[in-house]
Amino acid sequence: MLRLGRLGLKGLLLAGGHGTRLRPLTYTGNKHMLPIANKPMLMYGFDQLRAAGIREIGVVLGPLHEGIRESMGDGSKFGVSIRYISQPDPLGIAHGVLISEDFVGEDPFIVHLGDNLLKESIPSLAKDFEKSKADATVLLSRVRDPSRFGVVQINHGKIVKLVEKPKEYISDLALAGVYFFRSTIFDAIRRLKPSWRNELEITEAIQNLLDAGGTITFHEITGWWKDTGRPEDILEANQLVLSDLKPSTRGKVEEGASVAGSVAIGEGSVVRKGATLRGPVVVGEDSEIGLNAYIGPYTSVGSRVRITRAEIENSIVLDGAVIDCHERIVDSIIGKDSKIVSNGNHKPSGRRFVVGESTFVSL
Ligand code: G1P
Repeated sequence: MLRLGRLGLKGLLLAGGHGTRLRPLTYTGNKHMLPIANKPMLMYGFDQLRAAGIREIGVVLGPLHEGIRESMGDGSKFGVSIRYISQPDPLGIAHGVLISEDFVGEDPFIVHLGDNLLKESIPSLAKDFEKSKADATVLLSRVRDPSRFGVVQINHGKIVKLVEKPKEYISDLALAGVYFFRSTIFDAIRRLKPSWRNELEITEAIQNLLDAGGTITFHEITGWWKDTGRPEDILEANQLVLSDLKPSTRGKVEEGASVAGSVAIGEGSVVRKGATLRGPVVVGEDSEIGLNAYIGPYTSVGSRVRITRAEIENSIVLDGAVIDCHERIVDSIIGKDSKIVSNGNHKPSGRRFVVGESTFVSL
């Protein structure tokens, strides 16, 4: 039988769920397509799986999945083959894995949560896992707020207990959203009962594996890791990715504009005379940064955006937005095709926004 890419190892990208914590942005769009440094969140996990040499990727989709099939297609333009698996109800990560059993078959596989970004070498971990006999390998990272995550307790270098969203402190080692499994996980999931949030918890499935005598190994992440459940997490992920931005100018910077630091300007975009960009800043395609606009560090500006007069810092401005106001906007996410305009000339200390799609804000 013809196999694509590395023998065996498959990838599962989970993009179900409702993204309730990111409303209003997720009323109209899929959270996994929200851009971080102008690249849809989901593509970070997708690229990790591809970098690991995986050529067969299953994408688990929830009811809100606009844009995902359109941008990924059958995977051929990325050199992979994609199978879409539908998860109409948000019944949890373990449920998403279980409904992918047909796709996975007997092969070892990596599950990457679509809302997790990490700066860690998945490829080398994938090689180690393939060589090992472990039933699962989990990635761990120390966190300040363990009650928001799945957490593991380690004793003498071995995982002895896993708890999802622990009410009482057991450790500060959280499970990051990348898991390496073999087909033994499926029976462990079948033994689960829905949790208090009516989900099949992958953390509990791994505990089941452990209880049944399975081998669970772990790797502590050395780079950064971000779960992008809340707007502030998205802005932080944006900062982390932009910290490594390589400067490039495909668009036009007019004479009299000031561009400093790491700035990437996409094709067809123009930075007008009198505008200031202080990186790290990324600007998409066909956007216009107009007179007296100031785009400050850690800001991602999408495509077809027009910004005049405003000062913007540490923010994400989605495609098609128009910002024309004499205001200072900080720590904000401005939805697709939104407009923020004002006639006043006052300049307060900084406005914060999470503006949904096609919104109009007049100040
Ligand atoms: C899920 C998992 C949790 C894990 C986290 C990583 O949490 O249940 O164990 O630590 O992803 O992002 P959720 O995003 O469903 O709250």
